Amino acid sequence: MRKVILLAIAAFLNAADLSQVIESPDATAILKKDALSAAKAVTMIEGCISNEPAVIARGKYIFHNLNGKDAKENPPEGLTRLLPDGKEKQMGNCVACHNIEGAKGYGNIGPDLSNYKALYMDSGARNGQFVYQKIADPRVDNAKTHMTVNLTNGLFNEREVCDLASYVMATKK
Ligand code: HEC
Repeated sequence: MRKVILLAIAAFLNAADLSQVIESPDATAILKKDALSAAKAVTMIEGCISNEPAVIARGKYIFHNLNGKDAKENPPEGLTRLLPDGKEKQMGNCVACHNIEGAKGYGNIGPDLSNYKALYMDSGARNGQFVYQKIADPRVDNAKTHMTVNLTNGLFNEREVCDLASYVMATKK
């Protein structure tokens, strides 16, 4: 009797299609999805750089937060904590590498962006297009950059990159 049961179990295991229960992720597909596309030169959209408080507020929020879910403050008009598919919205977390006015616990891998308008813009060292390209895809200006890519990989859309550029370039307290 015991032998019969064992044989039955063995037969069942042989016949069972285990492909449904064993997870076998396709590593190649994952790597492809995560791989960055080639560096891409981009041009600012019309009216990109703005002094509008709503634009600057969005840029500031994206700059200082890692994602919408963990943010302490509610996102300003035009930004949401969650995406339509229910996933949390990733923010820029630019403070991980840059100091800027009001930054808390910032990193210093990237240059200090405090007083950017006076030091970089009014001095003529930079213009809006440079800042936009740097944020969109810094690899165009510096192939070996340590900065994150933000537009070419679809993390942000053009408007959000404009919000960030407007914030960086704005006069701040
Ligand atoms: C992982 C680190 C890192 C992160 C995150 C990062 N940056 Fe940078 N950033 C750098 C480095 C390094 C540079 C220096 C230039 C280069 O390598 O491209 C730089 C340069 C810049 C510059 C150009 C400054 C100049 O020379 O005029 C701007 C503007 C800028 N970053 C904005 C941002 C914004 C906005 C974000 C968030 C979306 C961000 N960075 C996120 C590392 C980072």
